[in-house]
Amino acid sequence: MHTASDGPVVVGDPDALRSVLGRCRADGATIALVPTMGALHAGHAALFDAAGKAADVVVASVFVNPLQFGPGEDLARYPRTFEADMALAAEHGVDVVFAPDVDVIYPHGEPLVHVDPGPLGRVLEGATRPGHFRGVLTVVAKLFGIVRPAIGVFGEKDYQQLVLIRSMAAELCLGVQVAGVATVREPDGLAESSRNRYLDPEQRSLATTLHRALRGGQEAAAGGPAAVVAAAADVLAAEPAIVVDYLVVRSRELGEPPVAGEARLLVAARIGSTRLIDNIAVHLTPSTSAGDPP
Ligand code: PAJ
Repeated sequence: MHTASDGPVVVGDPDALRSVLGRCRADGATIALVPTMGALHAGHAALFDAAGKAADVVVASVFVNPLQFGPGEDLARYPRTFEADMALAAEHGVDVVFAPDVDVIYPHGEPLVHVDPGPLGRVLEGATRPGHFRGVLTVVAKLFGIVRPAIGVFGEKDYQQLVLIRSMAAELCLGVQVAGVATVREPDGLAESSRNRYLDPEQRSLATTLHRALRGGQEAAAGGPAAVVAAAADVLAAEPAIVVDYLVVRSRELGEPPVAGEARLLVAARIGSTRLIDNIAVHLTPSTSAGDPP
């Protein structure tokens, strides 16, 4: 839509956005949306790249959604780095940035109508963060409604969020294809996250334990789900400063793990006051443990 040097068009008003995108649609262009809360990093950049491959026009939204933060969470101190965000968006081919004010998205304060994520919204992240996924799904539904993209692009980093957004799009017939992008990691394995900047140097080096634990679990896959969790738990137990919230194996849709085939190992843990999440694919094989007769 523009040449690389232009940088994205920045719009805060939904009507202005609709008119920009209306012109694109009239030209037959397909639109991809990458919702973000800003504080952009290499993980978001990978989403922009994927969106650029999948559609003609890439829209990124930058909106720190108060509805998905619980009381006592980090809404007030969530990093806001708009200038740097625009530079990264420009480098990765974002055409339009939608950056609305809070009262544009929630003109009457807390909305009366929400999207209910169902039972999957109340476990794992949802157990520790009540109302979180209701807030996520409500804002993503609104963003889909404003932008009306053909494709929405989300990261596997927030795996439960990705699964829930996929279900929402399918069950509410939103007509948006939901694409997932593999987690982008720093060279030492730590998953890129806007919240990594809360970590002091000591905590930052401790944080790599999460990925090491997931890899340890992955390597134990031949022993079944319990062995996967035990192997990962061993790695985490070596670092008492890491407080594990959950460490579980689930199916790809986050149900009970299958006996064999692709599953997901998910972890959430606190280091100091920072809560980190990560996950990895695990390929379970039917158990033929070393002790079994051939
Ligand atoms: P945010 O945390 O800014 O993340 C925006 C998108 O980037 C999400 O789809 C997330 O999964 C993805 N992402 C984050 N870190 C990543 C990494 N290391 N590798 C790959 N993708 C990564 O998630 C949210 O915002 C919000 O909940 C939102 C969906 C915008 C709704 O408010």
